[in-house]
Amino acid sequence: MKTLLLAGLMLALLMPLPVMAAEKDPDTGFIIADGWEVVRNNCTACHSASIVTQNSGSRNYWLGLIRWMQATQNLWQFDAATEETILDYLSTQYGTKKGARREPLPRELMPENPYKMEAKSS
Ligand code: HEC
Repeated sequence: MKTLLLAGLMLALLMPLPVMAAEKDPDTGFIIADGWEVVRNNCTACHSASIVTQNSGSRNYWLGLIRWMQATQNLWQFDAATEETILDYLSTQYGTKKGARREPLPRELMPENPYKMEAKSS
């Protein structure tokens, strides 16, 4: 009886984690949140949803991807409101990961490389 109680207690302690996890659409795996259906409708025609959900990044990152697909992969143009909804959803639900490395600094903000190889004169 005691062990059962203890097991129950341990389970109860472990439960909140999965319970608190965001609810996901069983068909696509998209996190169910504002705008998810718009993203499903526009982002799964050419590739699986998982190619979207396994990515993450800033709003700018997502916008860059969309522009790239529009320029090279025949992705259609979105009206401004739709694009806002998509970017809001993606940057909120699949935003830059906390533990992720920061994006590299632009070259002009970096100090000169002290180890740069220079042609030896001697
Ligand atoms: C018209 C077709 C099409 C639609 C619609 C589309 N994509 Fe793509 N997308 C592609 C193609 C083609 C690739 C390259 C796939 C590959 O490399 O296998 C791609 C690749 C990607 C990648 C992977 C990029 C990488 O760095 O590997 C992501 C993320 C992505 N798409 C997100 C989206 C999102 C978000 C939407 C909705 C806004 C979307 N896609 C809608 C065609 C599309």
